[in-house]
Amino acid sequence: MIARAAFPFTPSAPLRLWPVLALLAAGAAQAAAPAVDGARAERIAQGAGCFGCHQIDPRPTDEDEDDDQSAATTPAARPPIAPAWRNVATKYRHDGGALERLTRAVLGGSNPYDPHWKYQVTGLAMPANRIAISEDDARLVVRWILSLDDAD
Ligand code: HEC
Repeated sequence: MIARAAFPFTPSAPLRLWPVLALLAAGAAQAAAPAVDGARAERIAQGAGCFGCHQIDPRPTDEDEDDDQSAATTPAARPPIAPAWRNVATKYRHDGGALERLTRAVLGGSNPYDPHWKYQVTGLAMPANRIAISEDDARLVVRWILSLDDAD
């Protein structure tokens, strides 16, 4: 009943409308997964304070030390506070539930008793960020994180 009421056409609508409806449905499906506006996502992350703990690129490892530029300008590799977002992308890229799960973690914080980055980061857990970021913005930022290329 409810579904019928919400549907804009009754079953008696002329059959020639169905191709139009099919096109509208296809458009809606595309709108559900828009290309990520990376610049906007990065601005939101900046404003929400994510970069107080995270970086986009992982710190150089020991092997990169001969790489003159990075060795000269960055401190010796220490574990970061929080995972670099390219590493997050690598870990969850093919995980269909990651977008929603990570959005929840960003808003509500991570579980300190079940860390996903144990021994790789110095932060024990991520605090809840929902004071700093809306749910829509959190989802946008996570979608962008998951779209990042792997680290070199
Ligand atoms: C106070 C430090 C801190 C801030 C601020 C912070 N994070 Fe985190 N974040 C962490 C730590 C620590 C972890 C690793 C948690 C773990 O080991 O499970 C983490 C993990 C994550 C993960 C991966 C979660 C998982 O389950 O693997 C994502 C995605 C993430 N943060 C996004 C964000 C976003 C987006 C923001 C800004 C809104 C943010 N973080 C702000 C510390 C922080």
